[in-house]
Amino acid sequence: MFNINRPTEKYQLDLDNIPKHVAIIMDGNGRWAKKRHLPRIAGHKQGMEVVKKITKSASDLGIKVLTLYAFSTENWHRPDKEVNYLMGLPEKFFNKFVPDLIKNNVQVRVMGEIDNLPNNTKLAVNKAINDTKGCDGMILNFALNYGSHDEIVTAIKKISKKVQDGELKINEIDTEMVDHSLMTADLNSFANPDLLIRTSGEERLSNFLLWQLAYSEFVFDDTKWPDYDSNNLKACIYEYQNRHRRFGGIKNK
Ligand code: FPP
Repeated sequence: MFNINRPTEKYQLDLDNIPKHVAIIMDGNGRWAKKRHLPRIAGHKQGMEVVKKITKSASDLGIKVLTLYAFSTENWHRPDKEVNYLMGLPEKFFNKFVPDLIKNNVQVRVMGEIDNLPNNTKLAVNKAINDTKGCDGMILNFALNYGSHDEIVTAIKKISKKVQDGELKINEIDTEMVDHSLMTADLNSFANPDLLIRTSGEERLSNFLLWQLAYSEFVFDDTKWPDYDSNNLKACIYEYQNRHRRFGGIKNK
């Protein structure tokens, strides 16, 4: 866990070792607002602006997939006013920023229980996916009404159904089949994040990508999401570049 208070030029990034898939748990909106005597939704509003800026920075750095945890299956337990505001954010965001996303060749994708979102949110999400489907630069992947337990249970049901229908034998079930049954399947070789960032100083996964993060590097940044900027992102990547990923093996001599 660290604070970013050093100038950007301190982070000499190795452009040949930029993480391909970066996943971010955007945390701290509520505390950011509270500190300013503002309602919690003011933190989410500012957080949305940060999504726009970090998307551009990530795309400029050459990241291939940026997955953002925007709403979890547990976030429905928040007060109605906050849930309604959060459900309106995708529409606000896409109405305002889709032209910029297209200009930057960014393709929008969404993973989660989309069918259970309010109609307006669903329409906005599907429109953004459709409007950007011709972009072949960075994938901006929103986790919306997403929960890893829910995702894994759905995958188990899909696989079990094949066994029940006689299409598959139990001993044919392997890691690859589970990969293909998860919501990240269509990210192909980029499905598993190389780097997981959580902002605001909290250090837990909160039901996010539990299978996919098995060998990811975790970086916890004290900055609250509404204050997070491209320097923070560069610092997190710098930290990543100074880790030695061994994937269960041993360090190369
Ligand atoms: C967690 O902070 C944040 C969320 C649950 C929502 C994150 C959403 C955004 C940053 C905006 C998303 C934008 C789009 C375009 C969908 P918290 O509210 O739990 O903060 P706290 O821990 O300080 O209370």
